[in-house]
Amino acid sequence: MRRIVMAMSAWLAACSGTGDGAATTHVSRTNGGPPPGQHFELGRAATPAEVAALDLDVNPAGAGLPAGRGSASDGAKVYARACASCHGPNGEGIAPLYPQLVGRDPAGETFDFAKDPRIARTIGNYWPYATTVFDYIRRAMPQTAPGSLSADDTYAVTAYLLAANKVIGAEAVLDSAALVNVKMPARDRFVRDDRRGGHEVR
Ligand code: HEC
Repeated sequence: MRRIVMAMSAWLAACSGTGDGAATTHVSRTNGGPPPGQHFELGRAATPAEVAALDLDVNPAGAGLPAGRGSASDGAKVYARACASCHGPNGEGIAPLYPQLVGRDPAGETFDFAKDPRIARTIGNYWPYATTVFDYIRRAMPQTAPGSLSADDTYAVTAYLLAANKVIGAEAVLDSAALVNVKMPARDRFVRDDRRGGHEVR
């Protein structure tokens, strides 16, 4: 505590310019934070385990996928327990808050979302990668307890939703290799945005 108080008084002295020695250096920063080269000495460095618990993202190519596996049939149980209360018993969604997850028309898929706002975007007709469906569920769902699903349960519920959308078979079992190999129906509807900073390069 004493070190924190000392660090803060040095910082205050540096701000007001009334301290002595190095602390009298004029500080023109007005947006808070310690002077350059100093720090508040509050808190502590995060442990590797704490960083690992948050460092969960999976990219479209599948980098970051955890070990584990799950079947669509096991995923049906996870879905009923953890997802159906919001997304409906069959993934039909509950308007207006809870999005539809299942629903696809393989025969008439036109990707006409811009022309017809009534067409629901679902995992089956809109998401370009199965890996990022897994990633989103793992990090964000169930909405009231994100991070509570095991890796196996996340593979299973992803398999269930992909099977319900007729992207994979009802008997499918997913692990990291199988997930990377799933080609989503909308995969080729998206192009990589290679504009610099998101703006067109002229
Ligand atoms: C408490 C309600 C609730 C529960 C339970 C819940 N979700 Fe969600 N889910 C939401 C809401 C709300 C959104 C929209 C979030 C947004 O757009 O920011 C969402 C969005 C999603 C999406 C993205 C939909 C899209 O295409 O944009 C997926 C996928 C999803 N949830 C899967 C699941 C799965 C799988 C479970 C069970 C493990 C689950 N959710 C449980 C409320 C819930």
